[in-house]
Amino acid sequence: MNQDIFQTMASLSEEIKGTVITSAEQLEAFRIRFVGSKNIIKGLFGEIKNVPNERKKEFGLVLNALKEEAESKFEQDKDQLESTSDNTQNHGLDLTAPVYYDSIGSRHPVSIVMNRIIRIFERIGFTVAEEREIETDWYNFTAMNTPEDHPARDMQDTFYLKDSTADLLRTHTSSVQARIMTTQKPPIRIIAPGRVYRNETISSRSHCQFHQVEGLYIDKKVSFADMKQTLLYFAREMYGPQTEIRLRPSYFPFTEPSAEMDVYWGLKNEDDYRITKGTGWLEILGCGMVDPNVLSNCGIDPEEYTGFAFGMGIERQAMLQYKVTDIRQFFENDIRFLKQFSGAL
Ligand code: DAH
Repeated sequence: MNQDIFQTMASLSEEIKGTVITSAEQLEAFRIRFVGSKNIIKGLFGEIKNVPNERKKEFGLVLNALKEEAESKFEQDKDQLESTSDNTQNHGLDLTAPVYYDSIGSRHPVSIVMNRIIRIFERIGFTVAEEREIETDWYNFTAMNTPEDHPARDMQDTFYLKDSTADLLRTHTSSVQARIMTTQKPPIRIIAPGRVYRNETISSRSHCQFHQVEGLYIDKKVSFADMKQTLLYFAREMYGPQTEIRLRPSYFPFTEPSAEMDVYWGLKNEDDYRITKGTGWLEILGCGMVDPNVLSNCGIDPEEYTGFAFGMGIERQAMLQYKVTDIRQFFENDIRFLKQFSGAL
């Protein structure tokens, strides 16, 4: 009997050492057999009565060592299992799996150009203002010095919303000017990017939806010279440090005087002749001093404040930059077209 019990303990010790635990099930089986409330080692303590007195001490030592061996193996293997399952099994990570490349999207060329323009103006203290695309007639036209029956309304073909004579899809981002002037006090220095809509026949050169960036600067003593300097800065950041600009007199209902700004593009090749209609100059934006009527429509005293505004289309600039010849490509979401802009910010 004595011999048997010592042998049993020795073989249990072997069994503990030899048990390989790589799963939660194996760990649980080990726990039940060696450390649980009805474990096999516990049962052996009762055998002490059968051990002769001179070996009782030895029996106690061996049995306690066996108990400790089982417990420490259990703790160790448990820790090991938890740490490996944390970063592998639970997340299905297979380190031997072949590498595959996830395809990430790219920014839309219109966004790329728009972001560039925004960053240029942000550097001189303009902040971005975004507003609604569904506008009321007042913000889009009336406040901007274009009352009903004003011939200038014909300059832009408007999408009016069904069952409403007051709501429309904004035809220009100039409506943001009125939104901002009626809610903020000067000084105002904002840049307003966004989508606009016009009821135009779709062709390679025009679309019924496109994007503009609007600028507005109102403060005491803002002059035409301030506007010119701001726009020259913009043109040189956008088109290169040597860029020349010219301002041509023009007409917009919301500015007086009004102008259009061209940048000198050059006439180096046949394309340049086509793009600039043989002049070498490219029209980039409309601008002018905010009409005093617009200021007073929006609750700003024109005796105290003056300002300048400008607005530019994005698609044409993007077409020039990326040599895109058909504006419709920007709105077709053809992945083969869009993929070419990956990596650009
Ligand atoms: N809103 C005009 C357009 O869509 C562009 C424009 C011209 C905006 C002159 C302005 C401006 O702010 O001062 O054609």
